Amino acid sequence: MEGDDVTEDVDVMREVGAMRDIDAMRGKDAMGGAEKPMLVELDHVSKIYGDLHAVDDLSITVPQGQWLSIVGSSGSGKTTLMNIIGCMDTPTSGSVSIDGHRLEDLTSAQLADVRKNVVGLVFQKFHLVPHLTAVENVMVAQYYHSVVDEREAMRALEQVGLGDRARHLPRQLSGGEQQRVCVARALINSPRVILADEPTGNLDEANEAIVLDLFRRLHKEGTTIIVVTHDAAVASCSEREIMLNHGVLAGERWNDESARSEYERAGGRPASSGSERETSGGFVSPSKAGKVDIRTDFVSDGRAADGRTQEAL
Ligand SMILES: Nc1ncnc2c1ncn2[C@@H]1O[C@H](COP(=O)(O)OP(=O)(O)O)[C@@H](O)[C@H]1O
Ligand SMILES: [Mg+2]
Repeated sequence: MEGDDVTEDVDVMREVGAMRDIDAMRGKDAMGGAEKPMLVELDHVSKIYGDLHAVDDLSITVPQGQWLSIVGSSGSGKTTLMNIIGCMDTPTSGSVSIDGHRLEDLTSAQLADVRKNVVGLVFQKFHLVPHLTAVENVMVAQYYHSVVDEREAMRALEQVGLGDRARHLPRQLSGGEQQRVCVARALINSPRVILADEPTGNLDEANEAIVLDLFRRLHKEGTTIIVVTHDAAVASCSEREIMLNHGVLAGERWNDESARSEYERAGGRPASSGSERETSGGFVSPSKAGKVDIRTDFVSDGRAADGRTQEAL
């Protein structure tokens, strides 16, 4: 009898677990139907260096599974923002939550856990260890996360089409291949969100296409992707684009209307900067701007003296 009860309990727990999984995918809490917190939530975040507002009172929410691009000219605060989301930098003011954890409430050990377990990073500069092979570079990420498993690292390299380059050193690999090692390294611990800062900035078109295909596949599998890019073609692959200018939100546009409806249904709001500012949607498409300095195309003559652009739009 007792044994049966236990079995039944286990079954019920399994069912609840499965429901939670399904509801998590829908952005709902299994127990109450309440909205689940967004995967990434920035609430009035600023990063200030002396007089310079690298990020200026920015509020953005990103749900699990969204593919978001952050665009804007050089110096507009994109990397600073990515470092804050990636738990590598802390804001001067405002609040950041990742996966429901308010980062400012965490100890440094807990913060390191979020960084290890939730976030995967891909940089423009590859940051591969030069004297380690491709597969060893991937294993370094496993080492910091949990345990080293060479077969798993090999599988990650195979996923990015580099099974036959696993024993090569970084200098024996092309730029595109090195970037793919970085993607494999970012993927190895199954992060909830991939943060990629100009991941195709050093790549030719063929390799850019390979990296974008990888992102497409990850996105299909439910991974959240936040990518900083200057490249209109890269930005146009994402569901949503946010443009920064001098650390301030300069525009927001959607490339995928069904993703937008889903986001709004889940309680997602437009990005904003300052108090209660709403983006007017006045976004000069990077697709139009091409690889030129987007800001010159985007900022209208009516820009406010303090560099804020919302009213001007
Ligand atoms: N550690 C720092 N100290 C002082 N200023 C910084 C620091 N990091 C970034 N900045 C400044 O903040 C602004 C935004 O930089 P960044 O986020 O790197 O821009 P982006 O990635 O869009 O090119 C720039 O003006 C940059 O010079
Ligand atoms: Mg940058």
